[in-house]
Amino acid sequence: MSVPSDKLPRHVAVIMDGNGRWAQHRGEARGFGHRAGVEAARGLMKAAAEYGIEVLTVYAFSQENWQRPGAEVALLMQLFSRALDREVAELHANNLRLRFIGDRSRFEGALTRAMGRAEALTAGNTGMTILIAIGYSGQWELVQAAERCRLAGTPVTVSALAAQLETAGLPDVDLLIRSGGEHRISNFLLWQSAYAELYFTDQLWPDFNREAFDAALHWYAARERRFGGLATPGDSTT
Ligand code: FPP
Repeated sequence: MSVPSDKLPRHVAVIMDGNGRWAQHRGEARGFGHRAGVEAARGLMKAAAEYGIEVLTVYAFSQENWQRPGAEVALLMQLFSRALDREVAELHANNLRLRFIGDRSRFEGALTRAMGRAEALTAGNTGMTILIAIGYSGQWELVQAAERCRLAGTPVTVSALAAQLETAGLPDVDLLIRSGGEHRISNFLLWQSAYAELYFTDQLWPDFNREAFDAALHWYAARERRFGGLATPGDSTT
């Protein structure tokens, strides 16, 4: 069932949690879940683009994820590199813009170069923007933005700080989805989610299919967003 376009979120952000448990439930190693997670992310990108969502941000790797065992981090890096190699041409062919947000300084040169190439290739596209948060932390981003204001000698105001964020120029998050049953934000898009509607599902990330995305969008479409104000006159809700 479709959602009327005026009820769609402009910016959807997703915390893709539960790959490890999904694999464990099947008696498999965590990497099996991450591989399935990549497929689920791919499906989400396709579905979001078809819906006409403007910006989709996915949390692929947090700064805290560096604390995971070296073998798991290495596997994730390998998966990201492969997914990039495999998917960029198709994303480009579909007019999608790909960007990465986060601290790239700890990633291997080959990966950061591939990220830069993908961004350059797709920069002029006019379809959905896909932001991949990798090496990302919301607190890091805010500190970095404040530091940039300081260096530029700019007073720190809401608009000055927003202009220094990784997401400068893009709409704030309307709908934040988290799979995997936890109810927390985990240092993701802290500033941009100030007024986001928060949608939590127990589904583990690899199970998050098109139907699950539809359910989240329908839930969002029924929300009444007040941004700290009051309900619209004549509206009986409080
Ligand atoms: C959470 O599962 C997921 C991650 C740590 C990030 C990795 C995400 C993917 C591989 C999806 C693909 C993304 C892209 C953009 C290619 P978890 O390991 O925290 O699961 P658990 O909570 O069950 O242990």
